[in-house]
Amino acid sequence: MTRTPITDRPESELLARRGAESIAGGVVSLNRRTDPPISFVRARGSRLWDADGNEYVDYHAAFAPHILGHNDPEVNAAVRAAAEEGPSLMGAGTTPWEIELSERLRACVPSLERVQIANTGSEATAHAVRLSRAFTGREDVVLTLGGYNGWHNDVARQVMPGLDTVGPRASPGEYPFLPASAGIPKSAQRLVHVVNFNDSASVEWVLERHPVACVMTEPVLQNVGVIPPRPGYLRALREICDRHGALLVFDEVKTGFRSALGGYQSRCGVTPDLSVFGKAVANGYPLGVIGGRADVMARFDDPDPGRRVLIAGTYNAHPVPTAAAIATIDRLGRDDGAVYRELEAKGARLQKGLETIFSERGLTVVVSRLGSAFCAYFMDHQPVDWHDVASHHDFDLDRRYRRALVERGIFHFPLACKQGSISAAHSDADLALTLDLTREALKSL
Ligand SMILES: Cc1ncc(COP(=O)(O)O)c(C=O)c1O
Repeated sequence: MTRTPITDRPESELLARRGAESIAGGVVSLNRRTDPPISFVRARGSRLWDADGNEYVDYHAAFAPHILGHNDPEVNAAVRAAAEEGPSLMGAGTTPWEIELSERLRACVPSLERVQIANTGSEATAHAVRLSRAFTGREDVVLTLGGYNGWHNDVARQVMPGLDTVGPRASPGEYPFLPASAGIPKSAQRLVHVVNFNDSASVEWVLERHPVACVMTEPVLQNVGVIPPRPGYLRALREICDRHGALLVFDEVKTGFRSALGGYQSRCGVTPDLSVFGKAVANGYPLGVIGGRADVMARFDDPDPGRRVLIAGTYNAHPVPTAAAIATIDRLGRDDGAVYRELEAKGARLQKGLETIFSERGLTVVVSRLGSAFCAYFMDHQPVDWHDVASHHDFDLDRRYRRALVERGIFHFPLACKQGSISAAHSDADLALTLDLTREALKSL
């Protein structure tokens, strides 16, 4: 693979300077900013190319949607057909393709008695919160520390706060809502209760004290690496929500369609009241899903306008992303889910290879993995929550590790603890190359 030094990428720098003249902050969606700046101009399968002609094996996957790889030929063929031969966005009545997608979603995830379709994960979580409030007549919401559920007022707290700001582990108890954005009203912040992941006692503690509409959590924390639920934790949430009359909402934007066709809920055996999906469901095209209990979802069409919940969007179920989602789901379900077996095997191979390389170097590292999602924690045990990561993970080493990998052509997002994602397009040769380059990268640290 051709390489230029990471600090000498003139085309990327030129684009960064040009972007800064027109785009507020220089980059669209500011969490994409990297230091030093890298602009990618081409992607195919498991590979990316930057503006200076450097090639990378990609494990960022654009924050995880590309489960089949970039520009998957089958998904793109469906997209082309939708764009060129299919009907345009009509904006009136239902369409055969939104029905087809909804039927597939329900067939994959049994808890989706009814669904609605939006454009992004954030839209889906916003709908889930509002729907929960309308259904329960309550306003408070419980979220997990270290989780991310989108950018809107009800959920936009800091994902990786310093322990100096968030304070020591509070159990049972809650943390202050540390907004990730200016402009979130105090009144909105007061309704949100942030608790530890893997800490059902804190959820119970909050539900005993506040009128909670919903407990929303990623079933596996995948915005601070990969932190699995402890045995019994999700079941305990189900039981606590039932006892206190709150809805349980699984944010499966990251786990859904990546960990299994039926979402993580099909692996853990816990059925939420509502679920939201995004990312892998459409292999890189913009689509968000909210679905769940028919009686709750019926509020979107309640005959009483005072009880009805608004869901609207000019582009919801646009034919292009809808076609992408249908093609993605069909591919993921083919041969009885063969893709997931392949991804599991690739994930296991990569994990074992990384563990061997880290131990050769005498480094204490835990490679946490759920199927195709993985993260190397520079600490001596599998973390259980954000406090565990924040107090034990070697962030500086992680940053240097990621940079050394990027320099050699392995693209992990250069931010500590960001999850890596393997796609169906990653070949055995890609994995072998990744391990060789990782060995080299570690020698340089
Ligand atoms: C778990 C989770 N929920 C919600 C979202 C928001 O999705 P989107 O970026 O599509 O709005 C994300 C995005 O990273 C996510 O990881």
